[in-house]
Amino acid sequence: MKSPVAAFGGAKVLVAGGLGFIGSTLAIRLIELGAEVTVVDSLDPDYGGNFANIAGYETRLGVVVADLRDRERLPELVQGCHYVFNMAAQTGHVDSMRRPVNDLEINAAAPLMLLEAVRADCPEAVVVYGSTRQIYGRPDYLPVDERHPLRPVDVNGVSKQAGEGFHTLYHQVYGLKTAILRLTNTYGPRMRIRDARQTFVGIWLRRVLEGDRFEVWGGTQQRDLAYVDDVVEAALLAAATPAAHGGVFNIGGSPPLSLLDLAQATIAANGGAGGFDLKEFPAERKSIDIGDYWADDGLFRRTVGWAPQVDLATGLRHSVEYYRANLARYL
Ligand SMILES: NC(=O)c1ccc[n+]([C@@H]2O[C@H](COP(=O)([O-])OP(=O)(O)OC[C@H]3O[C@@H](n4cnc5c(N)ncnc54)[C@H](O)[C@@H]3O)[C@@H](O)[C@H]2O)c1
Repeated sequence: MKSPVAAFGGAKVLVAGGLGFIGSTLAIRLIELGAEVTVVDSLDPDYGGNFANIAGYETRLGVVVADLRDRERLPELVQGCHYVFNMAAQTGHVDSMRRPVNDLEINAAAPLMLLEAVRADCPEAVVVYGSTRQIYGRPDYLPVDERHPLRPVDVNGVSKQAGEGFHTLYHQVYGLKTAILRLTNTYGPRMRIRDARQTFVGIWLRRVLEGDRFEVWGGTQQRDLAYVDDVVEAALLAAATPAAHGGVFNIGGSPPLSLLDLAQATIAANGGAGGFDLKEFPAERKSIDIGDYWADDGLFRRTVGWAPQVDLATGLRHSVEYYRANLARYL
């Protein structure tokens, strides 16, 4: 059977947030599949955008440095697109509490502006929106399925919930072909490692590669980490599978494990070198932590025939190798 991702050969694609971690990995995969790809990214230094993420591909994709909130720019960007992937976001949870209106603008108003541009200028395009498990808040039960109540514990979760809501609404009211992916913690090459803004795994990797100890906060929380290539595959399948359009899907990862076990796995991926210190959660983070989370992503698996392919040990090893070769470009 022909893979649904063959649909991208010759397709015109916009990846918003395409210099960031997931967006750039997706853009590169789309180029390899023969798509004509443009990325748009604001390159705000607080987020994950980095030209190093597209190293070697600079001449094979269009790059527009612009802010999605600059709505005048959007019509020309979406014109003629078959697919729009929106991976642009402010992803920091603490940042969202410190600058709540900024978070709302980027995670709710900007996606709405992009949807408006699609509605006006390319209503046949498929729009895939990168959402987050953060919108569930502290789980009532595990694994969390899509019927779980939405009770975000931070501004980021509220804004992303609104961003999602606009996609569902534009599907229902205007018939736009939208698909929403609620991603779990994602890791892999091209993630931000300078600090813990994007993911704690990033700063852990930085520390072990620099020969320093890293901090594990709490330690007993369980998470199901997803490797970035599996998330990219999920986004492609969501776009290419009509049965997914109009849907909201959890995307999980490897079987859940505690942060303590994850810390050990990170050191193992570094050839056994490195160490960590167990710390109390900083108060600012504790109040917005969601505790244990792992996804029931059975709905997505059944709808598009997806399953994660990269186990944690392999994904961490690829990540260590990538940053060992490219560390300076990520600090
Ligand atoms: N990485 C994870 O663990 C994770 C987990 C759950 C959900 N997600 C979601 O996946 C998506 C991608 O996240 P990521 O991890 O790649 O983050 P990232 O920070 O690496 O990428 C986001 C990109 O969006 C860009 N951006 C931010 N505001 C913008 C604006 N106004 N206009 C244009 N570009 C803008 C940033 O510069 C950055 O390059 C986000 O929607 C995020 O909420 C990620």
